[in-house]
Amino acid sequence: MIITLDGPAGSGKSTAARRLADELGFRFLNTGAMYRAVGLLCEQSGTDLTDADACGRTAASAQLVQTGDRLSVNGEDWTALVRSPAAATAASAVAVHPPVRTALVALQRTVGAAGDTVTEGRDQGTIVFPDAALKVFLTADAEARAERRWRELRETDANVPLADVLAEVRDRDARDERRSAAPLIPAADAVRYDTTGKPLETVVADLVALARERGA
Ligand code: DC
Repeated sequence: MIITLDGPAGSGKSTAARRLADELGFRFLNTGAMYRAVGLLCEQSGTDLTDADACGRTAASAQLVQTGDRLSVNGEDWTALVRSPAAATAASAVAVHPPVRTALVALQRTVGAAGDTVTEGRDQGTIVFPDAALKVFLTADAEARAERRWRELRETDANVPLADVLAEVRDRDARDERRSAAPLIPAADAVRYDTTGKPLETVVADLVALARERGA
């Protein structure tokens, strides 16, 4: 059984998806981490982030393995590395390229085919798993999402102003929504769920209830 959670940056998707997977005993797939890894790989190898084919080759040749919460890239643990703001920006740049998406979508479908999976991203319900048993589109006000990111960032970098994070969130939303390849839109049959002001426990309990209704 496949459950998809899509939505914009900072909507609380990753945490909610991970918790939902734990509660159900499903595998968890964090597809944003894959785009982040490819973005960083392109930067490291000096690949032009606007070169669709070159970025696509990087994506196709990368060894990306997710085990629980950990991400290994070409045999190295990149779990912490991909969480940086630089990785998010690089991810958003390479995610516009169809050859990159083709490579990562194939990998995501292989993981999904292996068994019960909760997967989170932008296009999981629309493109990658159109037949998913449950599709959820998580939203939250831009301010709430920026604040969530800002709190996370403060753990590593105390000097980021909230206004900068809000500007970055709006920027990335615009890029993710307007790109022609797999733009961020809810699937027609997705359940929309607004996390603004809701404690994580409430969100998780509501998602578990939805999953149970669909037979999880
Ligand atoms: O969810 P995240 O912040 O880790 O995502 C990083 C970037 O990757 C985001 O700007 C959009 C892109 N992305 C995507 O295009 N498709 C996905 N399934 C997941 C992420």
